[in-house]
Amino acid sequence: MSTDARDSADRFAVCFSGGSGIAYGLRLVEVLLTAGHEVHLCATGAALRVLVHEAGAAIDLERPDLASLFAADLRARLRVHGLQSVEATPASGSARIRATVIVPCSMGTLARVAHGFSSNLVERAADVALKEGRPLLVVPRETPLSVVHLENMLALARLGAIVLPAMPGFYHRPRRVDDLVDFVVGKILDRLGLDHALVRRWQTPGPEPASPWDEGES
Ligand SMILES: Cc1cc2nc3c(=O)[nH]c(=O)nc-3n(C[C@H](O)[C@H](O)[C@H](O)COP(=O)(O)O)c2cc1C
Repeated sequence: MSTDARDSADRFAVCFSGGSGIAYGLRLVEVLLTAGHEVHLCATGAALRVLVHEAGAAIDLERPDLASLFAADLRARLRVHGLQSVEATPASGSARIRATVIVPCSMGTLARVAHGFSSNLVERAADVALKEGRPLLVVPRETPLSVVHLENMLALARLGAIVLPAMPGFYHRPRRVDDLVDFVVGKILDRLGLDHALVRRWQTPGPEPASPWDEGES
């Protein structure tokens, strides 16, 4: 992300739900904060458990401190809200939230959002984005997909949400897990309309195409 993005800093809601792929959510928040944006963060109870299992995070499930997951110098622009904090900024259509991202998005949360449930702040934030006509991105990881999952995704897409499955590409010859994570986060940033340099853009291969990942690495 370009460092001068601070000049056009904006406000985003990022929601972690209990799907696999919490690394995508963590990286997205880190990149948005680094670029100078304000991030309103909320996590479901299942997301906290995934944080423990997948990221090895030392999370107190009763009193989670999500801010501690991010570097101290980034926390000033981070607002963490409890799941039941329905009075929090993302719960109101009058708050100027540029876009809401549920990443990772569990099939349960996806189903509830697709059908208008607003039983917690994550679902309410998504509901608000839909009603206000603001971008809502959901990032499911589930596979294989049942008919129920597919129908709920179709319903959300028809409502205007962007369904962006966590499906990293391999045409850039990723070497590290971080490269795969950045591929998906780059796709999210593209749909948010934010400039970034997380991945190289595809261009017409030359006679001897080299992997963009090869350059500058020892
Ligand atoms: C490590 C781990 C990975 C999981 N991965 C997924 C997943 O990819 N997709 C999914 O729908 N549920 C997944 N689950 C199950 C959800 O967390 C569970 O259905 C939960 O009730 C979702 O709640 P939420 O929608 O309130 O976050 C996973 C659970 C754990 C512990």
